Amino acid sequence: KKIAIFASGTGSNFQAIIDAIAAKQLQAEVALLVCDKPMAGAIDKAKLAGVPAFVFEPKQYESKAAFEQQIIHKLRQHEVDFVVLAGYMRLVGPTLLTAYTNRIINIHPSLLPAFPGKDAIGQAVKAGVKVTGVTIHFVDEGMDTGPIIAQRAMELTDGDGLADVVRKIHEIEHVFYPETLERLFGKGRV
Ligand code: GRF
Repeated sequence: KKIAIFASGTGSNFQAIIDAIAAKQLQAEVALLVCDKPMAGAIDKAKLAGVPAFVFEPKQYESKAAFEQQIIHKLRQHEVDFVVLAGYMRLVGPTLLTAYTNRIINIHPSLLPAFPGKDAIGQAVKAGVKVTGVTIHFVDEGMDTGPIIAQRAMELTDGDGLADVVRKIHEIEHVFYPETLERLFGKGRV
């Protein structure tokens, strides 16, 4: 399957997916990076990996429908089957949701429905929870509300600071996202 990865930031999950494909742990092709932040680290990672990137600035479009229409155009050009969000800091609108119904997947750094939205890890640490984790889910019009595909839990150790939890969550994500994508549409799909 051909996938497009959407990222707004560092792109460590983008890189983990690229690496899993190179290691033949995931049967897929990253056909496109879509990025709404011209300075994002994900763009350099795409260049190094030889993945084409569509980089855009939302404020240069008159509406979300307008830039999503442009995204859809790019997705079709690259014959993309699935959209994989990896730190795309924006709600997907009805234009894109309709074009890719049930084919948009997101990773979120908490056990949803707990701690949706921004800074999920910070929210969890502040709440003093003893268990948190990572959720992979289909995207709907809400904020981190779509049907859950898979979750992985993690215990917080006494004395873990925010930075420790962030690091541990990312370690889980980098294994768990490629694994789950392989189960969804790779060779060994369930
Ligand atoms: C990840 O923690 C992901 O769960 C969240 O955004 C972060 C993206 O990190 N949605 P990166 O850009 O992949 O390093």
